[in-house]
Amino acid sequence: MSKNHILHLEDVYKGYAGKNVLKNIDLAISEGEFCSVVGPSGCGKSTLLRLILGQDLPDKGKVLLDGKAVGLPDKRRGVVYQKYSLFPNLTVLENVMLGPKYLGLPNNTSPSVSEIKEAAMYYLKRVRLENAAHKFPHELSGGMQQRAAIAQTLIVQPKILLMDEPFGALDPDTREELQVFLLELWEAMGLTVLFVTHSLEEACFVGSRLLALSQYYNSGVDFQSHGATIVEDHPLERVAHSTEIKHNAHFQALISDVRAKAFNPELNQFVKDFNLNHQDSFRT
Ligand SMILES: Nc1ncnc2c1ncn2[C@@H]1O[C@H](COP(=O)(O)OP(=O)(O)OP(=O)(O)O)[C@@H](O)[C@H]1O
Ligand SMILES: [Mg+2]
Repeated sequence: MSKNHILHLEDVYKGYAGKNVLKNIDLAISEGEFCSVVGPSGCGKSTLLRLILGQDLPDKGKVLLDGKAVGLPDKRRGVVYQKYSLFPNLTVLENVMLGPKYLGLPNNTSPSVSEIKEAAMYYLKRVRLENAAHKFPHELSGGMQQRAAIAQTLIVQPKILLMDEPFGALDPDTREELQVFLLELWEAMGLTVLFVTHSLEEACFVGSRLLALSQYYNSGVDFQSHGATIVEDHPLERVAHSTEIKHNAHFQALISDVRAKAFNPELNQFVKDFNLNHQDSFRT
């Protein structure tokens, strides 16, 4: 395993109540990568994030963060959900200050209130919310709330930022704005991101690497019973800075291709035919 792999999952299986959900998941992620994970509804994307977060255990296989078993949730992994990351009774600033109060700051295990406040204001500036610091979540738009949730997570400098449909509840224009915003933040701050979405367009637009998780492939048994695995894993060649690329033919062709390979119960693609040409991709 390369020392730059922040995250390493090997031959991971997970099921619930006798039903296979994830099967033979092999995934290595290098520092600085922005991976988007797309797949049909119910294929196990959130389950995969829960295993990485340490909220749930695999039935089989390894989940390593920086070469060590993940253990319970801690500040090495930050997570942003579709909604409800912010406490409604706290201001934006207080919400962002919350993590370091309990977890400390990266180079300061017992920071003073003014040190925490300074750090929180820094992250609020990064997400362009310094003027909303004293507002309550209900006074913010959905897009602002999600930017506040990102600041709340980044302040403890997680090794990897996990996002589960973070823009799923936003209107289409705000959603695009946040996609571009997140790409800019990732580049500016050198983040490592695992971004889950069931929107093909979003998955093909954000990120430096595209992964598709799907139960639709041929393993010799009925797809209803075998569990989802990674059926696509390849680099996204360009990093988008504007939504213009969404209109070009190459982008549309990529969406059609991933839709055909990962969202089509009729396809029956064999494992040997998967497009796994990312340099970190492997299969056990
Ligand atoms: N704690 C649990 N107990 C029982 N079944 C579960 C549990 N968590 C998930 N499942 C089942 O595992 C499967 C995958 O669920 P998961 O939420 O990971 O899918 P998903 O890809 O995130 O779906 P969506 O796109 O709708 O968010 C589903 O069939 C779900 O019902
Ligand atoms: Mg989910």
